[in-house]
Amino acid sequence: MTSYCEKTGLSPEDMNLYRHYHSYLTQKISLSKPANETIKGFSKPLQRLIGNHAQNNNEAKRKERLFNHLEKSLVSKFQSASLVVFGSSASGLSLKSGDYDLCLIIPSVDEKKAIKKISSMLRGQGMDSVETITNAKVPIVKFSDPRSGLQVDISINNSLALHNTKLLAAYCKLDKRVKELVTCVKYWALHRNLCDAWSGTLSSYAWTILVINHLIQENVIPNLQQSDNRTIADVDGIEYDLTINTNASLNDANEAEVAELLASFFYRYATREWDKSVISIRNGGDLTRKEKGWRNEPPSAIEVINSDNTKMGNHHMAIEDPFDIDVDLCRVLRAHGELNIKNELIRACEMFSDGSTWKSICDTVNESRLEHLEPDDLFHDLRDKSDSIVANMLEKTKAEMVSLEKRVNALEDEKHSTIKMAKAMRGVIDETSGIRKEHKATVLGLKERSDLIEEIKSQRDKINSDIILPIHMIEDELSKVYKRLTEELDIHRVPSLEREKEHFSWFIELQAMHAKAREASELHQRFIENINLQKSEIAKLKIYETQHDDATKKLLEQEPLLKDKNVNRKEVISFDRRVQKLQKVVRQRRTELHKLRREVGRLEAWMRKKSSRNKNHSKRKNHRGSKSSGTSKPNAGPVTLGDISGLLSAIENEGSSKKVRKINAKKAGMRKLGNLSAHRGERGSFKRKD
Ligand code: UTP
Repeated sequence: MTSYCEKTGLSPEDMNLYRHYHSYLTQKISLSKPANETIKGFSKPLQRLIGNHAQNNNEAKRKERLFNHLEKSLVSKFQSASLVVFGSSASGLSLKSGDYDLCLIIPSVDEKKAIKKISSMLRGQGMDSVETITNAKVPIVKFSDPRSGLQVDISINNSLALHNTKLLAAYCKLDKRVKELVTCVKYWALHRNLCDAWSGTLSSYAWTILVINHLIQENVIPNLQQSDNRTIADVDGIEYDLTINTNASLNDANEAEVAELLASFFYRYATREWDKSVISIRNGGDLTRKEKGWRNEPPSAIEVINSDNTKMGNHHMAIEDPFDIDVDLCRVLRAHGELNIKNELIRACEMFSDGSTWKSICDTVNESRLEHLEPDDLFHDLRDKSDSIVANMLEKTKAEMVSLEKRVNALEDEKHSTIKMAKAMRGVIDETSGIRKEHKATVLGLKERSDLIEEIKSQRDKINSDIILPIHMIEDELSKVYKRLTEELDIHRVPSLEREKEHFSWFIELQAMHAKAREASELHQRFIENINLQKSEIAKLKIYETQHDDATKKLLEQEPLLKDKNVNRKEVISFDRRVQKLQKVVRQRRTELHKLRREVGRLEAWMRKKSSRNKNHSKRKNHRGSKSSGTSKPNAGPVTLGDISGLLSAIENEGSSKKVRKINAKKAGMRKLGNLSAHRGERGSFKRKD
């Protein structure tokens, strides 16, 4: 039977889950820096990765277009607001897949309310997965833009983040290896599921700080926060030391290549004694825990895992924020997250030395979490397919695209005519609203009176059910009994005492009955009066209705759209609902259409690439023997988005021949499919009141 570890207390499952970390803790393995030859083997794949993630024009344009669109809509919503880009998109340290971080600066605003307002605006604009986080220190709205495919975070008044972005941008400018190493580390962390503060691992920002710390320690870059001239500034009412010394330089800087720096990065953090000190790039090196005042608080991650205790102690992998120095960037860690990171750092360190490939080191842990990312190799699924199969795929996708386009157009037509109808109806109702108001008051009166009539009737009927005689008979009987009781007595026919008593009690009973009957009769009178009033009000209502019909009729005659339409509020509301439904469907279909267009573009690009490669190939065949060297080799490696954008812009720049083709197509009367690229302008035509 497998048992719990005596040293760590980990269960057999956890020992397996964190096997690299467990082996390291139990001294079953020892780590070392890899040999130079081994490191060299990583150079090419790392350079390829860095190339793939270099800033490309298409992405910059996509971001710019989205920024302009958001800026316009946000500034029109919040007066005196300004939108600023921060995070990796502004510092130059982004992966292709990185979030687009935007900060909305709005002076004196209720941030939570503002976030809610923004989120409903974004939903209205058709953004996907709109999510708000209002309980964080800085409230955020997260969403993805279906047109550009960008994942966006908008935070409010996140002023300090603008300063730390400036610091990272300054480091990025200092030496190209900063960007290179950040790219490699973020890529690895992303694929090994170690880079998500929301799920208990470190943020992308924290990984970047770890890289900067490593490069300062390795003497690759100087500490930019070191200077005799300090910049102290007030940010949101708190003073911070925001010194960034862009003139700082190093003597005898380390010239190591990125592969070597990556190997030492993994070694540094895999072997780090996290409990001993605190990482501080501000200080240019570690601070002791005593200096910093951050205790390695219990319970540890392992204790939490072993005892199912949910709350872990603070500061286990302490990383000081460069400006907000009371903030520990590891505050987001959860026990599994911490163990996972430590385990993976050791795994990467081992694999770097044992001849594994970069691809296997970065083997994706959770495919579904990265589904939204562009694949590094855009044509990965087409490489082993024959030309005819790809041509078939292209034809099929084009046919789907055309039929979907028709559908979208039909839906748009339907939506516009429904909007027109609702607007026309609303016009009618507004113009006859005076009449409708009186109408409404009368109807309300009818309802109240009808309730009263019902009540009177029930009281009357209840009394009547207790009285056995109608009132006139009671009165007759009363006078008869009264007469009998009061007439002069015939000495020969004196009634017995018993009989006398009977007459008296009958008389009293008749009197009580008479009082009740009078009450019933009064109720009946009120009942009749109310019924009559009700009748006359109903007659008035009919007059209003005729007036209203006349007014409506006149307008209907002027509006052909409304012929045969019964105009009332309910009908208008149902038209509005239909518009909303249509809007939703149109949005969904447009997203599908956008995907199909991209797929057609991709398949066409692959076919063009294949045919140009075949041409080169046959050219080389013809020249074989005459020139064996110096001919450029066709690119057999993975094609990336960067390649594709180059390829497409080369095609765009083909110039005159392209122009001729365009003119011919126009002359031939072909239907224009429109610009196949993502166009924010199209969204601009979507109006809220629609
Ligand atoms: P991210 O963690 O998203 O970093 O934080 P990033 O470098 O932009 O990551 P990718 O490229 O999208 O994956 C974005 C910005 O938020 C601020 C920093 O300014 C960071 O650049 N931030 C983040 C903080 O100030 N503190 C934190 O703890 C996290």
